[in-house]
Amino acid sequence: MDFYQAAKEEIKRSADIVELIGQYVQLKKAGLNHVGLCPFHGDKDPSFSVSSTKQIFHCFGCKKGGDIFTFWMEYHKVSYSQAIKELAEKYHVVLPEKKITPEKRHELDLKEEIYRINGAAAAYYNYILVKTALGKKGIGYFDKRSITPEIIDRFKLGYASEDWDGLTRFLSGRDVNLEKAEKAGLLITKKNGGYYDRFRGRVIFPIFTMEGKVAGFGGRVLDNSLPKYLNTPETSIFHKGELLYGLNTAFPHIRETGRVVIVEGYTDVLALNKHGFYAAVATLGTALTQNHLRKLKGFSREIIVVFDADSAGKSAAVRSLPLFLNEGLSARVMILPEGDDPDTFMNSRGLDAFLSHLDRAMPLYDFYIESKLKTVEPGIAGKLEILKEVIPVLSEITSDIQRSVYIKHLCERCDVSESVVLTELNRLRGTVSGKGNIARLESVQTGSGVKSLKEYHLLNLIIHSPGIAGRALVDDFKMLISTDEVVKIFNILAEEYRLKKNIDPAQILEHMQEGQERDIFNEVMLSEPIYKGPAVEQAVLEFENRIYDIKLSNSINEAKSSGNIEKLNELVKLRKAI
Ligand code: CTP
Ligand code: MN
Repeated sequence: MDFYQAAKEEIKRSADIVELIGQYVQLKKAGLNHVGLCPFHGDKDPSFSVSSTKQIFHCFGCKKGGDIFTFWMEYHKVSYSQAIKELAEKYHVVLPEKKITPEKRHELDLKEEIYRINGAAAAYYNYILVKTALGKKGIGYFDKRSITPEIIDRFKLGYASEDWDGLTRFLSGRDVNLEKAEKAGLLITKKNGGYYDRFRGRVIFPIFTMEGKVAGFGGRVLDNSLPKYLNTPETSIFHKGELLYGLNTAFPHIRETGRVVIVEGYTDVLALNKHGFYAAVATLGTALTQNHLRKLKGFSREIIVVFDADSAGKSAAVRSLPLFLNEGLSARVMILPEGDDPDTFMNSRGLDAFLSHLDRAMPLYDFYIESKLKTVEPGIAGKLEILKEVIPVLSEITSDIQRSVYIKHLCERCDVSESVVLTELNRLRGTVSGKGNIARLESVQTGSGVKSLKEYHLLNLIIHSPGIAGRALVDDFKMLISTDEVVKIFNILAEEYRLKKNIDPAQILEHMQEGQERDIFNEVMLSEPIYKGPAVEQAVLEFENRIYDIKLSNSINEAKSSGNIEKLNELVKLRKAI
C-alpha cells in the first residue's frame, strides 16, 4: 500500500485532470474525451487524450499515460514523491510525515533548498536595488535603459553590489548553509576556505520556473566590460536548455492568445512587456532546444522567433528549422531592421510598429530556403547544394502530409522536378539492411516472464554459446535490453565473465537467489538454443549492427535537438550507407 494513498485520493477528489492538464496543454473536447498535442513527444496530430470520467491521460503516439501524478512527474520532470508534494500543496492537502533516512531526506530536500536559497537571494538583490544606497547604480542603469519601476517589480530585478561578500554575509546571517548556496551557483569557494559572491557589480535578472520558483540568475555588467552577462552555472535545478526567461509571467498571456514570441535577450522580454506585449520569452543565451519547444507547444499554436538581423541571428533561425519540423510546429521568423533588437526596436518604434512586423513574419521554412538561395551560387550547382542540405532534414519528418507540402514548396522555389527530390528522399528513407535471423525468429514463442523477444534471443545466445560471451557481455549490449530482470541477469553474467573469463551457466543458476531473474534464467537454460553453428556468429553480428543503429539514431536525435544540420546530414548519410 502506498504510504500516500489516502492523501493521493484526497488530491484526486480536489483536482480535475482536464483542468490541470489543460493549464499546460491546449485541449479540445472530442467525444467523451479531450484531446491535444502530446507534450512528451514530437506530436503532429493530436494523439494525446485526457479522460474526465476516468481521470487519466494517454498518448496514442508515445504511449505515455497515467493519472495526474504521472502527468506532473513527466511534465515537470520531478520524482514521484515530489509530484505528490507539489500537487498536495496546489490542492491544499496535508501530507502525512514520512520517516526516511537522513541521507535520503538530504538528497530530496537539496533541490527544494536551492530554490529556497535562490528565492532569498533574489529578494536580497531586489532589496539592494530598490531600497538601499548601494542600489543607486543599478537604478541609474535601468533608468538609462528605460526599464521602469513596474518592470523592475514584475520581474523582481535586482542589483549585486561590487562587494565581494554582500550576499555571502546576508545568507550566513539568515542561517543559510553556505555549502548549499555554493551548490546553487550563488557563491564561489575561496582557495583557502570560505566563500565569495559570484555576482558582483551587476544588475540581476532572476530566472523563474513556470511555477514561479527561482531557478537561477543572469547578471549584466553596467558598462562594456566582459563577460557582458554572467549566468548561474548548470546546477541540479538550472538547465539552460529547458528554461525560458519570462515564461512564468508570459504563460497566461500565451494561453490566452495562443501565440508566443521567442526573443534572444532578457532586456528584450522586458521592453516588450513595458510596451504591452506580454507573450514573450527568451532563451538563456543558448540555441533553442526541443525541450524549449515542448514547454510551449501545448498551449501556443503559433511560435514566432525573433532573430537579430545580423548573420549570426539568421543562421540561428536556419539552424532551428529541424527542431520545429520535428515537433510538428510551423514557426514564423521575424527579422528586425539591421542593428535593432526587440529592446531597441520597442523603445524607438513602439508596440504598433512591432505588431505590424509581427503580422508580416515569414514562415520559417520559406525563410530557410530564401536565405539559402541567397547564399549559394546561382544556377544548378547552388540548387544542388540546397537540396543536399534540405533533403536529409525533410527525410526526418514523419508526417507524410507535412513532408509533401514542404517538398512541393522546395521544388517550386528551386525549380526542380518533384521526382528528383522524391527519389533522393526514398533513397535516404530506405529501410536499413535486411532483417535476417533475429527478425525471422521474432515469431518464436517464449514462456512467461521475458517480455521482449529480442532480449530472450540475446540471453539464449549468450547462455547457449558461451564462446561469444566476451563479445556480447559488454555494456553496449545493454542497449538491447529493457526488462529489469534481464538487465540483472546480464549483469550477473558480465560480472562472472569479468572475474573468470568464462561463464558456466549451470553454476550461476545454482548461486542465483530465488525470484523472477532465476525463473527467467532457468527457462532460458532449459530452452533449445536458437542459434547453432554459423548462425551464432551471424546473430552476434546482427546484434552488433542493431546497437550501431541505436547509437546512430541517438546521435541523429541529438543533432536534431541541437539543430546541428551539418552533423545531421552526415549521420543520415551514414545510416543510409548501412
Ligand atoms: N548572453 C549570455 N552571456 C553573454 C552574452 C549573452 O548569457 N556573455 C545571453 C543573455 O541571456 C542575453 C542574450 O544572450 O540576454 C542575448 O545577448 P545579447 O544580444 O548580447 O544581449 P542583449 O540581451 O541585447 O543585452 P543588452 O541589450 O543588455 O546588451
Ligand atoms: Mn539588447
